[in-house]
Amino acid sequence: MSMLLEVSGVSVSFDGFRAINNLSINFAPAELRAIIGPNGAGKTTFMDIVTGKTKPDEGHVIWGDKNISLLGMSESQIAREGIGRKFQKPTVFEDQTVRQNLAMALKNPRGPFAVLTHKKTAKNGARIEAIADEIGLLDSLTRPAGELSHGQKQWLEIGMLLAQDPRLLLVDEPAAGMTVEEREKTTDILRRAAETRAVVVVEHDMEFVRRLNCKVTVLHEGSVLAEGNLDHVTSNQQVIDVYLGRSHA
Ligand SMILES: Nc1ncnc2c1ncn2[C@@H]1O[C@H](COP(=O)(O)OP(=O)(O)O)[C@@H](O)[C@H]1O
Ligand SMILES: [Mg+2]
Repeated sequence: MSMLLEVSGVSVSFDGFRAINNLSINFAPAELRAIIGPNGAGKTTFMDIVTGKTKPDEGHVIWGDKNISLLGMSESQIAREGIGRKFQKPTVFEDQTVRQNLAMALKNPRGPFAVLTHKKTAKNGARIEAIADEIGLLDSLTRPAGELSHGQKQWLEIGMLLAQDPRLLLVDEPAAGMTVEEREKTTDILRRAAETRAVVVVEHDMEFVRRLNCKVTVLHEGSVLAEGNLDHVTSNQQVIDVYLGRSHA
């Protein structure tokens, strides 16, 4: 199977410190992947590189069926290619309802048919409801986003990203600040989203990662230390030494 995203030999230094060190990591078109590793391992910097926020000093970042390089592209070009990113802090419009937030996200479509969307207004209602259902907010469509719980705001933001129909969704530490029930619901949302696209989740919470039930990549000092299912990587002695054996909260 050809890969959706191929990162190979990527390095980036900040003031002489190699935050990413000859990193190679690949993602298939529809897969769920967890990335774990100690603080400072380069997890967020990896996402910065894929989204074009940080340009690597060396290496390749190859995207899609046409094997195009993302390195020459701006952040907005990369977003239009279908790479969505969810940051830790939710950035929904608090004064707007859930429906309005989702409608706004639908109005800025990416892709070649964007100009035709004014003809699609009737379809938008159904699409908004389908997304709201997917993120568990169908009963909250008329509520202002500001009234939602922290977890619900996170789901709304995931929904706003799904409205853009990304082929790759990058999610940085979604479980932080969530209740146990919200965490469980979030794993369900991410697993479902990954049925039709690649979803890459950075997360420290091991229970959360276990529930994701997917391939895990362990980053350490800017490279891949181990990769495989969670039991495989957590029984790796190096992973225990650099990550699991320490407090990393
Ligand atoms: N813009 C930057 N300028 C300087 N140093 C940075 C920058 N971004 C990240 N770093 C450093 O790179 C290393 C990796 O950081 P980061 O990717 O945030 O790690 P993680 O997300 O795995 O905790 C850290 O040592 C961090 O201080
Ligand atoms: Mg980080």
